[in-house]
Amino acid sequence: MARSMLQAVSTAVFGLSAISLPLANAAAVSSTATSARSQYTLPASVQYAENVIPNINDPQAVDAQSVCPGYKATNVQNSTFGLTATLSLAGTPCNLYGTDIDTLNLTVQYQTADRLSVNIVPTYVDSSNYTQYLVRDSLLAKPALDEGVSETSKFHDLSFSWSNDPTFAFTVQRRSTGDVLFTTEGSKLIFENQFLEFTSPLPDDYNIYGLGEHIHEFRLGNNFTATIFPADIANPIDYNIYGSHPFYLETRYFEVDPKTGNTSITTGNATDPSKKYESYSHGVYLRNTHAHEVLLRPNRITWRTLGGSIDLYFYAGPTQPAVTKALLKSNDALPAMQQYYTLGYQQCRWGYKGWSDVEDVASNFSKFEIPLETLWVDIDYLGQLRDFQTDPNTWSIEEGEKFLSSLHSKGQHFVPIIDSAIYIPNPDNASDAYAPFDRGNEVGAFLKNPDGSLYIGAVWPGFTVFPDWLSEGAQTWWVDEITAFHEKVSFDGIWIDMSEISSFCAGSCGSGNLHLQPVHPPFALPGEPGAVVYDYPEGFNITNATEAASASSGAASQSSAASVSATTPASTPIYRPTVTPGVRDVNHPAYVINNGQGDIANKAISPNATHIDGTQEYEMHNVWGYQILNATHNALLNIFPEKRPFIIGRSTFFGSGRWAGHWGGDNYSKWGSMYMSISQALSFSLFGIPMFGVDTCGFLGNSDEELCNRWMQLSAFFPFYRNHNTLSTIPQEPYRWGSVIESTKTAMKIRYPLLPYMYTLLHLAHSTGSTVLRALSWEFPNDPLLANVDTQLLLGPSILVIPVLEPQVSTVQGVFPGIAEGEKWYDWYTQTPVSATAGKNETIDAPLGHIPVYVRGGSVLPQQEYALTTRDARNTPYSLITALSAKGTAKGELYVDDGESVKPNATLFVEYAAENNTLTAVPQGAYVEPQPLANITVLGVPSAPLAGVTFNGVKLPSSSVAYNGTSHVLSVTGLKNYTAAGAWAHKWTLKW
Ligand SMILES: *[C@@H]1O[C@H](CO)[C@@H](O)[C@H](O)[C@H]1NC(C)=O
Ligand SMILES: *[C@@H]1O[C@H](CO)[C@@H](O)[C@H](O)[C@H]1NC(C)=O
Repeated sequence: MARSMLQAVSTAVFGLSAISLPLANAAAVSSTATSARSQYTLPASVQYAENVIPNINDPQAVDAQSVCPGYKATNVQNSTFGLTATLSLAGTPCNLYGTDIDTLNLTVQYQTADRLSVNIVPTYVDSSNYTQYLVRDSLLAKPALDEGVSETSKFHDLSFSWSNDPTFAFTVQRRSTGDVLFTTEGSKLIFENQFLEFTSPLPDDYNIYGLGEHIHEFRLGNNFTATIFPADIANPIDYNIYGSHPFYLETRYFEVDPKTGNTSITTGNATDPSKKYESYSHGVYLRNTHAHEVLLRPNRITWRTLGGSIDLYFYAGPTQPAVTKALLKSNDALPAMQQYYTLGYQQCRWGYKGWSDVEDVASNFSKFEIPLETLWVDIDYLGQLRDFQTDPNTWSIEEGEKFLSSLHSKGQHFVPIIDSAIYIPNPDNASDAYAPFDRGNEVGAFLKNPDGSLYIGAVWPGFTVFPDWLSEGAQTWWVDEITAFHEKVSFDGIWIDMSEISSFCAGSCGSGNLHLQPVHPPFALPGEPGAVVYDYPEGFNITNATEAASASSGAASQSSAASVSATTPASTPIYRPTVTPGVRDVNHPAYVINNGQGDIANKAISPNATHIDGTQEYEMHNVWGYQILNATHNALLNIFPEKRPFIIGRSTFFGSGRWAGHWGGDNYSKWGSMYMSISQALSFSLFGIPMFGVDTCGFLGNSDEELCNRWMQLSAFFPFYRNHNTLSTIPQEPYRWGSVIESTKTAMKIRYPLLPYMYTLLHLAHSTGSTVLRALSWEFPNDPLLANVDTQLLLGPSILVIPVLEPQVSTVQGVFPGIAEGEKWYDWYTQTPVSATAGKNETIDAPLGHIPVYVRGGSVLPQQEYALTTRDARNTPYSLITALSAKGTAKGELYVDDGESVKPNATLFVEYAAENNTLTAVPQGAYVEPQPLANITVLGVPSAPLAGVTFNGVKLPSSSVAYNGTSHVLSVTGLKNYTAAGAWAHKWTLKW
């Protein structure tokens, strides 16, 4: 949860310094009516530091390229694996957004056959005062040189070249095509202590993906600034949100000359169906933890960071899977394997008031016979909103113990939220004791101000401190607190929130003000006076006209009441930070990034919050959320040494996937949020976080039947499948509306049978770096028309989903990829081939309650049966769907293990292949799967098997075989007797 009350506040306000907030003087402390105890509400002014204007929007901003001198390379030396050089400033320092650094070291390495690194660091780095922070390898894995590949430059598909005319520039080219992938020719390298810039031209209408985390179309386009700076902000379009993923994938399409086979780059994605195309993809990763910005402009990309170094990695691909696999492997970023149960359905909301509420929810799921795997609780359960304690009245330990043991006995699970900030008690109030703070403080677990005092911000419970993950004390304290809490509340996984890291005030606003504790956040919570939620999805005014009218008049009167008292922060003067050469100003970097919250101190802890080793949030902010996931992973391993930790975290950095999954944050009960969930998921596939899903039916605002109906169906195809909403809105569990119960079951009757396939995809992602949710352009790389598609998605290689993403319609437009190359698609429900035209948007019937799903010809899909929990589903017989390609072939695979062990002592891998009317299954591995095989369904069998059907040479009785001459579906049943030792105990063959 954790909503941001601020919308995109680039217009923010209040000329208070981030360092010392005159809070006591602000005296605007007031008490709220909603709390039982009288509680001070922080004044709204604490939320803001400076009113700044982002550099990209500032007409007065100077372009560094026009005034800075660039560098000259000297002392260039070839080495076995690349080259080294010294770069010296080529003129008078410009000191534009920082202090120019005189000399730099350039190191270029051909690290493997498909990876090139370009590293530029200051020659002299004073490690004692961190004026130029170089990311520690212990913090973030660093792709290493593979010395086994000798002199890879000769065999490498990427080539590096450089020039000194007029100043130093470098170029990375793909040898096989001669294509320039990246070149700084014609521009200058800018390297200042608080500002780095390098820029390259790009082809017309280029296809770039990644650069998270944002709510934006999947293909980023050429008019977008990707700000990379974690922010607690409710999913605004195009602004920076929770995570940092400084990586992009670029795909270039080439026209193939049919006579010569030569290729030439296409302009844009316009295609001519009579022509043939092919694509090459490459990846670029900048290993830098500072706030930064990537400017995508027509024909150009520009990277700007607020410090650190240029630690760039080029991945040759030449396909998306090749790029992603190499990227994830080389950065130790292969995603965590999840427990099987985490693929079951999960229910949450902010507003469950006690164990009795969640008990009701669980029993409603069972009453309506809707699968429920895991119940989640938001901050409601926290005693006084403080981590590691529950409210003794409604969330008592004893009642929880009873409920959770009954939940567990039904094969269900429980995941509570843990917030990132830690309450600091009121020193004047002896009864305000909070032991977790004391224990952490004793071991120096918390961030400090530059003067050594505790840095004190404000989050849900009031004034708070924040763990300093660089301190050994914080790591062990966190593990101990979570472990001790598990002894009271036996949770199964952990949800980490507010980890950007968020603070509701700018600066150490609690310093000197702790006697006010506990304080209320500086804004009204949803449902409190002035913040009553009247919002509904588009289309609600048609389906529920009367309620919509009353909601809109409520909203109107609330907003007119609010406008009387609202302050107008935009009227405060704009603050333009300046540079003093030689001085590093972390609070006011002169280059102002386009942060959705305005000043970088707003709604986050300030850049001068200081770590134990002297580093500051200025250089560490982007990885705070990454580190808490690491620490939480260790805590879960301490509690369950044998089980894979299940964590869903909000702030991530590239590589977080090795510890945790992610949800899409504070989205809205709006059709647009559902549409954007596809782009979000595909982006997180690129970032190595396949365990992804969004708040189904929407978090902020009220949901409605139509939206929830469609959304419960779409999310059923995402690995992480959870419904969640905010405080005070109408309930939106799927059993609240009759049609949603039905649509949910319809989709779950596809999802649950497909769990063996989904689990196999996760295993392959974990072991090879492949993806689970896929863009059409990744599976069909030779069709430029697919470059833009983000309204459809593929689950693995074989399942195509074409969801309805708008209200009040009963059809959807969708494209069937690969038709021109002979691809065959089968309708999931009818099991018959789709007749579609290559490259054409087909109109597909999709009345409410129906989600169009297709199986790709050429696939073998292992299935088990639908059940209300994954435990029960795993105890059902297997079946196989074999969807033959146009050539009559198919293949597939299955991975099975115990579903939970970190290191399973046995595993099973089955490969399926069909050709010439024969399907074989070849198992490998020692894991014993006792479930038999019940049925095999073969789609696309042209004619009846006249000679009958045999299983391992034994002719099956005619009662076991049915062939439908109209649908061309062959159904083989009754196989249990032949596979009583287990479906995959032995190799078998089916012939028809
Ligand atoms: C380094 O290698 C490049 C390319 O192989 C070559 O052109 C250049 O002359 C070499 N420079 C030195 C100093 O050996
Ligand atoms: C840069 O190169 C010089 C010369 O090889 C070396 O002494 C120095 O330590 C290098 N600086 C960094 C930050 O690696």
